[in-house]
Amino acid sequence: MSSNIKVAIRIRDKISRETSRPSVIKRKTSNEITLQKDNTANVITTVEHTFYFDQVFDESSNQKQIYHELAREYILKALEGYHTCVIAYGQTGAGKTYTMMGTEQEPGIIPLVSHELFKIIDMCQDEGPDEDALVHFKVTVSYFQIYNEQIYDMLSGGCNVLRVRDGPRKVTYIEGLSDRIVNSCEELLKCIEEGSARRSVAGTAVNENSSRSHAICTINIQQTEIDSFGDTVERVSSIKLVDLAGSERTKVSKTKDERFKEGTNINKSLMTLRRVVTMLSNNKVTGVPYRESLLTRVLRDNLDGNSITCILACISPCDYEESISTLRYASTAKHVRTEAHLNTTQISKGEEQLFSLQNQLKELQATLTLQTAELEDQRVLQQQLDKINETNKYLQHRLETENKICADFRNRWTQISWESHQLGSALLDIVHATEIASQPFSFDSQITSFQRDCAQFQSSLQKDKETIQYLLEKYTLV
Ligand SMILES: Nc1ncnc2c1ncn2[C@@H]1O[C@H](COP(=O)(O)OP(=O)(O)OP(=O)(O)O)[C@@H](O)[C@H]1O
Ligand SMILES: [Mg+2]
Repeated sequence: MSSNIKVAIRIRDKISRETSRPSVIKRKTSNEITLQKDNTANVITTVEHTFYFDQVFDESSNQKQIYHELAREYILKALEGYHTCVIAYGQTGAGKTYTMMGTEQEPGIIPLVSHELFKIIDMCQDEGPDEDALVHFKVTVSYFQIYNEQIYDMLSGGCNVLRVRDGPRKVTYIEGLSDRIVNSCEELLKCIEEGSARRSVAGTAVNENSSRSHAICTINIQQTEIDSFGDTVERVSSIKLVDLAGSERTKVSKTKDERFKEGTNINKSLMTLRRVVTMLSNNKVTGVPYRESLLTRVLRDNLDGNSITCILACISPCDYEESISTLRYASTAKHVRTEAHLNTTQISKGEEQLFSLQNQLKELQATLTLQTAELEDQRVLQQQLDKINETNKYLQHRLETENKICADFRNRWTQISWESHQLGSALLDIVHATEIASQPFSFDSQITSFQRDCAQFQSSLQKDKETIQYLLEKYTLV
């Protein structure tokens, strides 16, 4: 489905700081708007500019009207199976965040889309004729911001910077971005509330709650339906809701330091968006500077690819220069064409069985590969076990040999010990003998002692002799 980007204008009502200022909007109809600037130097001449758009919502239009007459179409198309996108564009303070998010009392496009999406899902699930014909929905949401040319996940607590990657068919994706499953409108709104609380917002001279980042909320819808022929129909689509940061003139917004840096980055990326849109509106296909900003990289598919896209340009009723600039850009965007197609796959029962068999085959192949791997592991383990056993045997043999050597050694030791003992005794004897030989005095004293013993022995022998003599004489034996 080839179609031009739809461009609508929302003129916001005057806010408190503008009540005394004249309106620059001279005329407006449902698709025409004329801006008029008084030439203060010459009050007779005035400058007028007229623009034509798909829709023009004036100051009296409320949130619900914008939703029903403009945004609702994009959720219905998303449910049909198309990727859709609504982008709020405009100068700072023009009412983009108000239009997209709104307030508790006046909810904007994002909460209204969330409500209607789950209302439709509930209806589809209640009205199915039987269990098989029911549509099964899976809804997920992702939410990120581009702040100072860096991407931050607004559904994750961390402040990690994420990277854009190029996917197939020129579609980009954000690596590591959270994609939360939501089962009810309440869950979806809770995610959006959680993400919005993390958005970078700060006060400037123009807007006390000025968005300092581009915020992109994507609701992904996956539908699985079994039709009356038993075929399975799958639709995968998304609705991207973009609240851009507003262009600002430093002189007017009076920003300094960090706010000034933010403003510079915002203006730079919006300038790239303008250049991209201008080139696409002139049917240029080469040299389009998508890669010059993260904003154009992530919105690429919505600007020239598979998407039904709407730009809602918001303007303030009192700022001529800014509003003219917004309307000029919006006019250019009208000429950009996108090529949306249904993201649907129909699978007949036969095909389904084939798919199922193919899947089974894949699973079996995977199991086989796993088992083969396990077998291979076992073979390697067995080899290792054999090697260990061989080593064990060798060690056992060595142990036995060592034991034998030990026993021999012990025997020899005992033998040597005995021999050593003998030798020791012999040595002692020799030493003793040597000592005796080397001590003549001691030898002499021994001889003296021996001689004394001999003398004593002779005297006792003499005494015995005399005793015997006496006894012999006494008994006249002699
Ligand atoms: N249609 C409207 N009716 C009433 N008040 C509005 C409307 N649109 C915006 N406002 C008010 O105008 C002020 C600026 O709006 P908002 O913050 O939405 O601007 P913005 O375009 O998002 O600006 P920025 O680019 O700085 O973020 C807010 O106080 C908001 O409540
Ligand atoms: Mg804003």
